[in-house]
Amino acid sequence: MTIKTAIIKIDSLKPQPERISKAAKFIQNGGVVVFPTETVYGIGANAFDDAACKKIFEIKGRPADNPLIVHVYSLDQAVKIAHIENKYLNKIKKIWPSPITFIAKARADLPKSVTAGLDTVAIRMPAHPVALSLIKKAGVPIAAPSANPSQKPTATTGSQCIKYFDRKVDCIIDSGSSFFGLESTIIDLRTFTLLRPGPFTPEEIETAFSMKPHVGKIASGTASAGRRVISPGTKYRHYAPETPLFMFEGDERRLSSMLESIEVPFAIIGSSEMCAFAERLGCSTVSMGSRKDLYNIAKNLYSSVILLDSLKVKFGIVESFEQRGVGLAIMNRLRKASANKSFSTKRELLKLL
Ligand code: TXA
Ligand code: MG
Repeated sequence: MTIKTAIIKIDSLKPQPERISKAAKFIQNGGVVVFPTETVYGIGANAFDDAACKKIFEIKGRPADNPLIVHVYSLDQAVKIAHIENKYLNKIKKIWPSPITFIAKARADLPKSVTAGLDTVAIRMPAHPVALSLIKKAGVPIAAPSANPSQKPTATTGSQCIKYFDRKVDCIIDSGSSFFGLESTIIDLRTFTLLRPGPFTPEEIETAFSMKPHVGKIASGTASAGRRVISPGTKYRHYAPETPLFMFEGDERRLSSMLESIEVPFAIIGSSEMCAFAERLGCSTVSMGSRKDLYNIAKNLYSSVILLDSLKVKFGIVESFEQRGVGLAIMNRLRKASANKSFSTKRELLKLL
């Protein structure tokens, strides 16, 4: 089904109030609005409107058992929806708005489409002026997953949202690029476990809460949640380009001998340092920026993965990064984008081809 989509340009730092009002009307009237957050774009609807939230699942092709994050603009709004223990509330007050989502017991009677029938809810206050003004103006919390068709790399720019969702949603707000480029960090407050690494790093969580979060294999992207549903989203394939992508884990100086005699066209996605090296070998490259600035790598990650598909190559090779700080989130997304296929020797690469 195609519908008419209102595309509204809104300044990311100084949102124009009349434009926010126009977009907020769509939310109030049961519509679906694509909007920017500091992490990635979201595709949202009134969190209390079951029919509107169901449309999000349809548009994305999202499995019904994968619940949505509820976005709020104030702590008052959050505590009406989730039961957040007092020992955490004061700390959260200090760090929100920021790119971190908390799973807590649901308090309000949210539609099943939002919680997927769980007795918990994911809740977050985005640190983006447009998102905050939109939620405030709409007067309701906004349930929103990331703005991408299920399994595809997430949109981090307004123009990518238009490519994915024009004529499918009521409104798309175009505010240019998201600030971080990777989805929020998720912490399950019941066990203080990191369910998804993101821009808010484990080190920063420890400082803010005076408590180390539990970080398991799911966080690095090397294991899925399996049958025990902790965070339903972790069991699905994610962020994948159409072109097969393999992760190179090793010293780039050894790459040249590995790439010799590979006759099909391929491209390398990596840091500017890795790309400079690969270009000297005559390879096609997509640079995500210097490896000295991992936040910049994170910001460019999805757009680089999306670009791979336009290069008409048979496969891509992506660099691996140190799993520290935001590097943990980068590796989590890259492992999923490469379906956990990695190599460190030529033999392993040939097996993958
Ligand atoms: O940065 C973000 O978090 C973006 C922006 C739009 O806010 N949103 C986002 O939503 O990434 P989504 O739906 O792509 O990822 C939400 C993840 C999913 O893996 C889902 O399974 C998990 O949160 N989740 C939601 N509710 C949950 C719950 N009650 N318990 C455990 N996991 C939950
Ligand atoms: Mg997502």
